[in-house]
Amino acid sequence: ARVVVLISGTGSNMAALLDAAADPGYGADVVAVGADRASAAGIDLAKQAGVPTFVTPFRAYPDRDQWNTALAEEIARFEPDIVVSAGFMRILGPAVLSRFTVINLHPALLPSFPGAHAVREALAHGVKVTGATIHFVDAGVDTGPIIDQVTVRVEPDDDERSLHERIKRVERTMLVDVVGRLARDGWTLDKRHVRLGSPEP
Ligand code: GRF
Repeated sequence: ARVVVLISGTGSNMAALLDAAADPGYGADVVAVGADRASAAGIDLAKQAGVPTFVTPFRAYPDRDQWNTALAEEIARFEPDIVVSAGFMRILGPAVLSRFTVINLHPALLPSFPGAHAVREALAHGVKVTGATIHFVDAGVDTGPIIDQVTVRVEPDDDERSLHERIKRVERTMLVDVVGRLARDGWTLDKRHVRLGSPEP
């Protein structure tokens, strides 16, 4: 399967996918890495790894729709089977979502704490267990059908940084596992229910 990864920052999850994809048995190839800003550090990482990159700067377009359309065109050049939003901090609109299967990584146990400050909000709420979610992206913010989740315990001394670091560790493992399984085995979607593997005959 051909995979395009979208990032906004460090790209440690993207890098984990690149590592996994180096094994031909993995079943997924990262064919391009895209970002919404030139300053995304992960873009350099991808370049160093010899992966094609593109930047579609949000601020270069008069409105969100035009930016989304431009982004969809960039993605389309690489003909992906799956688009992975891994630390991509922008909302994707119909121009992208109607053309591609998009999955997103979120640093909390959805439907708790959607949005851009999930780790901070989980801490502020005083939860004892949080975690990470991978889901299909729909028109809402972090609302699409859940593919997989992993829990992480909140420790008494955690701050946003330490907790997010532990969440990212489990995110990377889960992302590599899920993308590989989607690529190798396919999936079925029945209302909100995702099942990995091909449909039963
Ligand atoms: C991850 O925690 C992801 O869930 C969140 O942003 C972080 C990205 O980290 N949306 P990285 O860029 O993959 O290192």
